[in-house]
Amino acid sequence: MSHQVIPALSRRALLGAAALAPLSAPALAQGAALKLGLMLPYSGTFAALGENITAAIEMYLAEKGGRLGGRAVQLVKLDDESDPSKAVQNVNRLLGRDGAQAMIGTVHSGVVLAMVQASREKGVPLIIPNAGNANATGELCAPSIFRTSFTNWQPAFGMGKALAAQGVKRAAWISWDYAAGREAGQGFEQGLKSGGAELVKSLWLPFPEANFQPLLAQVPGLGVQAVGSFFAGGGAVQFVKDYAAAGLKNSVPLCGSGFLTEGTLAAQGAAAEGVRTALHYGDGLDNAKNHAFRAAFKARTGREADVYAVQGYDAAQLLAVGLEATKGDIAAERALVTAMRAARIDSPRGAFTLSAQHNPVQNIYLRQATEGQNKVIGIAAPALADPGTGCRMASI
Ligand code: PHB
Repeated sequence: MSHQVIPALSRRALLGAAALAPLSAPALAQGAALKLGLMLPYSGTFAALGENITAAIEMYLAEKGGRLGGRAVQLVKLDDESDPSKAVQNVNRLLGRDGAQAMIGTVHSGVVLAMVQASREKGVPLIIPNAGNANATGELCAPSIFRTSFTNWQPAFGMGKALAAQGVKRAAWISWDYAAGREAGQGFEQGLKSGGAELVKSLWLPFPEANFQPLLAQVPGLGVQAVGSFFAGGGAVQFVKDYAAAGLKNSVPLCGSGFLTEGTLAAQGAAAEGVRTALHYGDGLDNAKNHAFRAAFKARTGREADVYAVQGYDAAQLLAVGLEATKGDIAAERALVTAMRAARIDSPRGAFTLSAQHNPVQNIYLRQATEGQNKVIGIAAPALADPGTGCRMASI
């Protein structure tokens, strides 16, 4: 990917593609609402992920009386269907017709690239509440782009490292063949290698297909002691069930990036019991913020919180840090970005700060699915920062 020189963001650019006149201080004080565009999947295999991100953003806004930095916030939602082929059109609609002045999105690592490009070109602030594409905080990094989730490398590296520490010498990888599965596979391999273990085979199927049988049939012949994987949402439910149904669960333990069992345990049932994963969150994390967050989310939605809810809540918290610094002025680029960069987010995962490339520096926990909960059983990689390779951050 080529490096582009990014000009400092202009005030007009920060207002987005919509032909909006800059708001004067009195207009802000009178409470002209900030249009916050949510581009997320509300259909398809990642629909539940988008719903939980959205519910947590709405919960945070409700806790703040609907205002951030004194400015009323109006949400504009768009279903991106996790479809990369519609991503450019969708982001143009969000910034054009819908007039979004800041964006939170999305889940899918391919779709997020359209949001990243739009943020770079137009300077509209973007907070990524899930998609782990390394380029967003690597080669395509920019002052206007922040992430409150992870890079695909982070949890998978932790998982590979933990497996090697447990004495596994040979492992295989199974995933969807797109950026997230590929990058997580690389992280898994690096983690294994860091402990003297090796990745002997990777097996792929196209996103979002769920015909796992041909891949699972190959596992017994690989001579591996564990299978690592990246799947999420509806696909993860099916994969974990099929893995157990294929009779592999006890002979070749399944593990992976924690999304494999995140928000899915009720649907996976006994098939998930005992599955170990690595992630920057766990259900029972014993800190005050997590307890309060889980109780409030349950009361509001009737659902248990998961990592997606946490990441959405933290995206709203990070935006609040910026808007508090600028008293609600989304176009005050320097103050907004400076405050967000320095933020220490009091997250249900534990407090975190951001790397120089705007990605969370965070513990990667080792978890084990136990009686319907992802129980934390250790720390796979403490305070893990993505290397942020290729990022040349433009000055503001
Ligand atoms: C991604 O495409 O980056 C992705 C999707 C779902 C997840 C995690 C990562 O749960």
